[in-house]
Amino acid sequence: MQNDILLRAALNKPTSRTPVWLMRQAGRILPEYRKVREAAGDFKTLVTTPELAAEVTIQPVDILGVDAAIIFSDILVIPEAMGLPYEMEERKGPVFPKVVSSQTDINSLRISQAEDLQYVLEAIKLTKQQLNGHVPLIGFAGAPWTIFSYMIEGGGSKTFSKAKKMLYTNPELAHQLLDKITQSTINYLKGQIAAGADLIQLFDSWAGILSPEQYQEFSLRYIQQICEAINEVPKTVFAKGAFFARAEMNALPCQVIGLDWNMDIEESKRMLPNKVLQGNLDPCALYGSLDDVRRETKKMIDAFGSHPHIANLGHGLYPDTEVDKVKCFIDTVKEYSALRSKN
Ligand code: CP3
Repeated sequence: MQNDILLRAALNKPTSRTPVWLMRQAGRILPEYRKVREAAGDFKTLVTTPELAAEVTIQPVDILGVDAAIIFSDILVIPEAMGLPYEMEERKGPVFPKVVSSQTDINSLRISQAEDLQYVLEAIKLTKQQLNGHVPLIGFAGAPWTIFSYMIEGGGSKTFSKAKKMLYTNPELAHQLLDKITQSTINYLKGQIAAGADLIQLFDSWAGILSPEQYQEFSLRYIQQICEAINEVPKTVFAKGAFFARAEMNALPCQVIGLDWNMDIEESKRMLPNKVLQGNLDPCALYGSLDDVRRETKKMIDAFGSHPHIANLGHGLYPDTEVDKVKCFIDTVKEYSALRSKN
């Protein structure tokens, strides 16, 4: 591989500078993405057409100069493969016409196999061919708890109270569904790796709405199972809002932990001494001037210091972020961390 610094950093091997990529770098901000998106007509066509998915996966590598590509897809392909289709509504986000609320609903869902998501596997193969060893390709899936939340709620929510209600009123049923999602996710990630994914990331976007005790029981134990099952490539766990579970995350069988911007860097280094840390600039910091972006980025690099680090934001890029601010973040990471490692 021509540029393998992300892989090296994930394995805690020395690198000449800090690697950098951004969550949600594919889509959202690039005019080049919007063009392909418009021609495709809708989001799902883009996701299910391997040639188009590969094209928008590679765009940020060429245009932004990031050290990795992340496959263009969505975490919600798993519920669909299990038998619960989603729709992506313009300006609203995902909606599930059917939701899960009973034992019968759960019985009717299947444990999906990698082949059920052949279009993603094809997109990965095509992307790998086109990347031609330039940078590694990141595969991903939602963590079981986050997928469970969408399957119960039927879409986004401020409180996710329906999903949480099941944890209190019928924990046994919740575990059945979480278990099916976990098995499906393991099959899916193994398929992504066989197709060529060099690294994988689990997104637990709704980790922060659980209590520490619930997080242990309904999320971490399933993340643990996935991490135990996947040993082929380095793994990153990003649990947004799970500041309270950092000590436990230090014991997960994964190499990298993603931090959000609420997690203090010094504290996180102490609580996660065994892990490479990824993150964690507030995506809103990119609304500042170029000088602000440079200053905030350098501050982040200084704070991670000599702790093994992969630069990223603390959550995905927001759609209204200006491309030159994103480039400024990336360039500053590259230049400043190279300078630091020379001195
Ligand atoms: O990182 C990347 O760029 C790869 C592609 C990617 C998408 N979704 C494409 C997408 C990834 C990694 C995701 C993950 C995802 N999807 C998460 C976890 C990360 C996070 O942000 O917390 C979640 C919770 C989802 C569910 C989802 N998908 C929502 C809530 C929405 C609507 C709001 C939005 O724009 O994100 C989506 C749609 C979606 N997924 C888009 C993209 C590019 C926008 C679709 C469009 O082009 O209209």
